[in-house]
Amino acid sequence: MHKPFLKLLFIAFLALQGGALQAAAIAMPDRFSAAAAKAVLLEGGNAVDAAVAAGFVLAVTYPEAGNLGGGGFMTLYARPVENGLGKPQAFFLDYRETAPKAAFRDLYLDEFGEVIPYRSLVGYQASGVPGTVMGLWQAHQRFGTLPWNKLLQHAIGLAENGFEVSAALEANRRWYETWVVGKSDDTLNFSTYFGGLQAGRIFKQPQLAKTLRRVADKGAADFYSGETATMLVRQMQAHGGLITREDLAAYRAKWREPVRFEWQGREVISAPPPSSGGVAIGQLLKLHALLKPELQTQLKLNRELPEQALKTHFYAELEKRVYADRAHFLGDPDFVSVPVKSMLADDYLQQRAAGVLWDGISVSESIRPGKIELPETTHFSIVDAQGNAVSNTTTLNMPFGNGVVIEQAGFLMNNEMDDFSTKPGVANVFGVVGGSANAIAPHKRMLSSMSPTLVLQDNQVAMVVGTPGGSTIITSVFQVLLNVFEEGMTPQQAVDAPRVHHQLLPKNQIAYNPELPEVVKRALQSLGYTLKRNDYMGDVQLIVCKRAQCEAAADYRGRGVAEVWLERGRD
Ligand code: DON
Repeated sequence: MHKPFLKLLFIAFLALQGGALQAAAIAMPDRFSAAAAKAVLLEGGNAVDAAVAAGFVLAVTYPEAGNLGGGGFMTLYARPVENGLGKPQAFFLDYRETAPKAAFRDLYLDEFGEVIPYRSLVGYQASGVPGTVMGLWQAHQRFGTLPWNKLLQHAIGLAENGFEVSAALEANRRWYETWVVGKSDDTLNFSTYFGGLQAGRIFKQPQLAKTLRRVADKGAADFYSGETATMLVRQMQAHGGLITREDLAAYRAKWREPVRFEWQGREVISAPPPSSGGVAIGQLLKLHALLKPELQTQLKLNRELPEQALKTHFYAELEKRVYADRAHFLGDPDFVSVPVKSMLADDYLQQRAAGVLWDGISVSESIRPGKIELPETTHFSIVDAQGNAVSNTTTLNMPFGNGVVIEQAGFLMNNEMDDFSTKPGVANVFGVVGGSANAIAPHKRMLSSMSPTLVLQDNQVAMVVGTPGGSTIITSVFQVLLNVFEEGMTPQQAVDAPRVHHQLLPKNQIAYNPELPEVVKRALQSLGYTLKRNDYMGDVQLIVCKRAQCEAAADYRGRGVAEVWLERGRD
């Protein structure tokens, strides 16, 4: 099911000496966020200003995943305002949702200790305390150069005057309305608010516009302790939700050390726990580098197999080990100690690499398989003409979150609580399992796969990348990195190429984008894999820069827009 996509690709060359003209680049998930980000950059805002404006626009025009009621992660390479015009540095902002204080380990289990189906996904108890407004606020406090209020005007205009609904957005709305039926006893008001999402119609959100106006005027305080907080808490209390005034007042986004590692002469900067993304991508890239000579040998020895099939088997062998580590070790670092350094240490990875099989499939333990539904998150990548970069992934978890809209405030709540391990060994909606490291506890952040990633070469931005896709985010980012830096693909080829995914469980199952060639599929089956078609596996937004030249690409699977232009630098 491939939707038409918008794609604008401009390749920019910096011809002048002295940095007078610099490339600015965006890869955004829809045309409205692209227009806002570009306008802010052209007005003299930096990448973070553009990210703030685009983040709020997505809460209006991309209600599947853009949000006020959700959370996310931002990886930055930027100059903080406090340092004036110093050199850019790497930062990571964790604005992930937290479990409400009233949450506890067995929250979603019945009296027999069984998981209550869908309670962590649909209805009031599925929501964590939202982090997005605080995240964008804290990013702006530290890095923003244009006024906060001004940046929100793009979103306010679109909420007030409306925007034209795409066919893809209507299709997602219809899918969600069907999916959600019968999954909760709570009264859901999703269709009351979003039933009007019909292709070609102008969709206005007056209540959301008012909320955005309050946030524009009063800052994050409105959302966490002001009028919006009152609306949110009133509705939670009326319907058995867990989020209280204290939960909202206690919420803070956190600046964390990003995961950083060397890879083939470059530095990769990605999401640390509570994301599993940076660690998992680090393990995958390092294992890949360790075994690259053996891969070359095996490709020569197995000429009868399509190259892509052997590579897919190789990736699956790596992914089995990486997802086993993910399930066991990873969780919120404020609650459990996550051995990030050891998991990325060369000697550890050498041991892990030693187990990789070339003439068969490593045996997975058999644990109850999960299923992959149509998921939704969204990612954008921005580079400004000063060489600052933002890689930002944000989500409600499933498209449209838990189906609950905060009355009068007009925004959807997340269903991120499902990313906790509701019971050891029981898979979440993405089919991944976990144990005590990711058990529910008050104020704890649920484990994520979101992986907003940057690559630096010689201290300059070489890549900005990320994607939605739940547990497939990690393997999508891994493959795009390989596509560009190992396979020599152009950015557009790299994001459009079919992707494959294995995550230990379901046992020996490879998920694939529908474009994967038949001959590769048959070869994988002959190796002993079962295949699962996944029509929606990522919507990558990619920027690649080399010296003075940037290219940007939006995944053809989504409704994104990529653009590069030249600006006069101000350094
Ligand atoms: O944090 C996570 O890993 C998930 N909640 C992300 C969900 C997602 O990517 C859905 N999107 N396609």
